[in-house]
Amino acid sequence: MKPEIETLLNNQVKYEANASMHYMAMASWADANGYNGIADFFYTHSEEERQHMIKLVKFINERGGNAEIPALEKPKSDFSSLNELFEDFLSSEEFVTQKINEIIFECLQHKDYNVHNFMQWYVSEQLEEEAMARSILDKLTIIGDDKTGHYIFDRDIMSFINTQEDTQQ
Ligand code: FEO
Repeated sequence: MKPEIETLLNNQVKYEANASMHYMAMASWADANGYNGIADFFYTHSEEERQHMIKLVKFINERGGNAEIPALEKPKSDFSSLNELFEDFLSSEEFVTQKINEIIFECLQHKDYNVHNFMQWYVSEQLEEEAMARSILDKLTIIGDDKTGHYIFDRDIMSFINTQEDTQQ
């Protein structure tokens, strides 16, 4: 594996780790504010990001590289509203997508089709996660400041995840 690609993959390990911690902080905020469904949503996503990180670590090592386990950044832990929470979620996913696209670009520059092929899984994953984040934000726009709407949104958000997963099969 080219050193440039190895560096980008190791950076991606860090971005996935940061996303995992970011979503853990979001889950904790939701828990503390009585949104148990949203907390479950972000605890689940935090774990998914951790799995994305591990998949990269294993791949780097299997390809003869050295995976670097990064120090963790302290994530933002306070949010003024559900809108801010989910806007941050979308921004985080957009950032990860941008970084994945940079890896894809570099793979093509170096004709590294193995890493390019491996990264396609992440490309698909990002498409789904960004689409989900946008759908959730659309729902929150419809709900506005209605407290009953927030209550129902919190109650139903996990079934929303399950619906997304069903459409992936
Ligand atoms: Fe693994 Fe949602 O980025």
